[in-house]
Amino acid sequence: MFSLKKFNSFGVECRTPYFKEVFSFFELKNLILKKKFREFFVLGGGTNILFLNKITGPVIKNSIGGIKIVNENDNAIYVSVGAGVNWHHLVLWCISKNYGGIENLSLIPGLVGASPIQNIGAYGTEICDVFHELECIEIKNGSKVNFNASDCKFSYRDSIFKNEYKGEFIITNVTLRLTKKNHKINTNYGEINETLQQMKILSPSIKDVSDAIVKIRSKKLPNHKEIGNAGSFFKNPIINLKVIEKLIKNYPDIPVFPLNGEKVKISAAWLIERCGFKGKRIKNVGMHSNQSLVLVNYGNANGAELWNYAKEIKKEVFNKFKIQLEEEVNLIN
Ligand code: EPU
Repeated sequence: MFSLKKFNSFGVECRTPYFKEVFSFFELKNLILKKKFREFFVLGGGTNILFLNKITGPVIKNSIGGIKIVNENDNAIYVSVGAGVNWHHLVLWCISKNYGGIENLSLIPGLVGASPIQNIGAYGTEICDVFHELECIEIKNGSKVNFNASDCKFSYRDSIFKNEYKGEFIITNVTLRLTKKNHKINTNYGEINETLQQMKILSPSIKDVSDAIVKIRSKKLPNHKEIGNAGSFFKNPIINLKVIEKLIKNYPDIPVFPLNGEKVKISAAWLIERCGFKGKRIKNVGMHSNQSLVLVNYGNANGAELWNYAKEIKKEVFNKFKIQLEEEVNLIN
């Protein structure tokens, strides 16, 4: 049996009978065809998963590398990236070449292959804003398939790969469309401007924005190499205007982020904090004291302990606010 403890950012123990790391599309294809696996678990950076049990099927670690320019014009550059490339490494590479578009996504843990699956987002940017296309392998027959942005059906922390096509494809390569000049500097998200002011920067470059975000994230979010966690454990709930109007009457300070149309997004961190869970530790498990949306493993918690604590939060939030929190992290059974 192979231990996956070092391969998940929660640092929980999980064993598997078969583990294989692959470094190219062809290696992956051969494995799929030769072994005739219909179902297996594909591991990227392991930074957005919670193992609840041992894994009975095979585990494949996707380590396909490479960053290359595949097209360009006066303004845009198309960069094709292997699924196994570390996301923040890609961000730094783009900044060093002055390619703009993903600087707001600095320091997000994990690998490029997982980034479209949950449409990673932070500080006012989502990967769908710069996504061009992706290449993947269809598990049932090993064929290569391309998806463009509309095929992926991106929405908040969601895509077709979490729904209709769950478990059907493995992403092998992602192509982003980035800017070579006239970068769209986006400092609208609250703390960015404040941090840039502290840094005494008036006219920020993409590198300045990245540096500011690295500062903000490092201050608020625990480093999973020190304390096990997977970033935000829940999604921010999206609710109807009617529901928020009622809530605001009782809780006028609830943070609300308007969306287009009839819905708003509200802060799950705030709901959790209001239920008294911020910094609350029970044995080896708790919600982080700087960010109440981050479930942490302080020691040797197992998947079930973490999940039981999360379920307790869901129950309390529902009892108090009648709002159902939904996991952002993928639960692996
Ligand atoms: N807040 C609290 N208590 C807290 C933390 C935050 O009440 O402990 C309130 C504050 O009012 C704050 C608001 O929540 O203004 C928003 O907080 P924050 O800016 O920290 O963002 P978030 O909504 O908690 C989301 C993403 C993060 C991303 C940040 C910044 C989700 C589920 N999470 O968190 O993404 O880094 O915005 O854009 O959308 C992740 O997905 O793993 C992740 C860390």
